[in-house]
Amino acid sequence: MASVDSTGSGVSGRLRSGDLLHAGLVVALLLGVWSVGGLEVSTGKVSSIEAMNGSTVLLPCTYSSCIGIKNLFFSWRYNDNGTMLTLCQAVIPIEGVEPRVAVYQERVEFVGSSKSNNISILLWNITFEDEGDYICFARNPKEKNRNHSAVFTLIVVDQMKEVDNTLTTIIVSVLGGVIGLVIFVMVIKALVVHFLLKDDEKNKECLVSSSGNDNTENGLSGAKADNKGTPKA
Ligand SMILES: *[C@@H]1O[C@H](CO)[C@@H](O)[C@H](O)[C@H]1NC(C)=O
Ligand SMILES: *[C@@H]1O[C@H](CO)[C@@H](O)[C@H](O)[C@H]1NC(C)=O
Ligand SMILES: *[C@@H]1O[C@H](CO)[C@@H](O)[C@H](O)[C@H]1NC(C)=O
Ligand SMILES: *[C@@H]1O[C@H](CO)[C@@H](O)[C@H](O)[C@H]1NC(C)=O
Ligand SMILES: *[C@@H]1O[C@H](CO)[C@@H](O)[C@H](O)[C@H]1NC(C)=O
Repeated sequence: MASVDSTGSGVSGRLRSGDLLHAGLVVALLLGVWSVGGLEVSTGKVSSIEAMNGSTVLLPCTYSSCIGIKNLFFSWRYNDNGTMLTLCQAVIPIEGVEPRVAVYQERVEFVGSSKSNNISILLWNITFEDEGDYICFARNPKEKNRNHSAVFTLIVVDQMKEVDNTLTTIIVSVLGGVIGLVIFVMVIKALVVHFLLKDDEKNKECLVSSSGNDNTENGLSGAKADNKGTPKA
C-alpha cells in the first residue's frame, strides 16, 4: 500500500514537473518572441536637455542588439517644425567596425564609436532655432528592417542662468557687506569700549570722590533723621 502510494505521488510529481517544464518553455518562447525585436535604441534615462544658446551639447544615443547587427543603418534627424531634416547617417557593416558617417548639417559632429555601440552626436554652438526633437533612428536588416528610434528633446535657454549668477553675486556681496559691517561694528564697539573704559576709570575716580561726599551727606541726613526721631520719642 505504502509503495503504491509512493509511486502514485511520484507520477503526479512527474506530471507537475512536466507542467512546469511546459510553462517554462512557453515563458521562454514568449520571452524569445518578445526579444526578437533585438535592436534597441536609447537616448538614456534623460531624454531631454536644457542648454544655453551658444553652448555645445551632446545628443546621446546608443543601440544594443542581442542577435547582433549587420549593415545597421542609423541616422539622426531633426523634426524642424514637421519636416524631417537628416543631420547625419551611416551604416555600420558589422559590430565593432567604425561607420563612415555622412554629415549633412554644419555644427553637427559624430562622436560615437562602434566599440561602445555609441552613435551620439555633438551639436556645436546651438541657437534657439536648434530647439526641438532629435530622433536617433536605427534599422537592422537582420531583423526584417524593423525601425527603431528614440527621441531626444533639446530646450535652448537664454543666458538666463546669468540671472542666477547675478543673484549669487548679490548674495555674496550682501553677505560680504554684512560681514564687513559686523567687523566695522565690532571695531567701533572695541574703540568705544576702549574709550569708555578710560572714561570709566575717570568716573570711578569721580565716584570714589563723590561717594565720600555721599557718605558725609548720608551721615548728615542720618543725623537729621536722628534729629527728627528724637522729638517723636
Ligand atoms: C544668446 O541669446 C541672447 C539673446 O538672443 C544673445 O544676446 C546672446 O548673444 C546669445 N548668446 C550667444 C552665446 O550666442
Ligand atoms: C512652425 O509652424 C508654425 C505653424 O504650424 C508656424 O507658425 C511657425 O512659424 C513655424 N516655425 C518655423 C520656425 O518654421
Ligand atoms: C563655434 O563657435 C566658435 C566661437 O564662436 C567657433 O570658433 C567655432 O568654429 C564654432 N564651431 C562650429 C562647429 O561652428
Ligand atoms: C558616447 O560617446 C561620447 C563621446 O565619446 C561620450 O561623451 C558619451 O558619454 C558616450 N555615451 C555613452 C552612453 O557611452
Ligand atoms: C522604416 O522606416 C522607413 C523610412 O525611414 C520606412 O520607409 C519603412 O517603411 C519603415 N519600416 C517599417 C517596418 O516600419
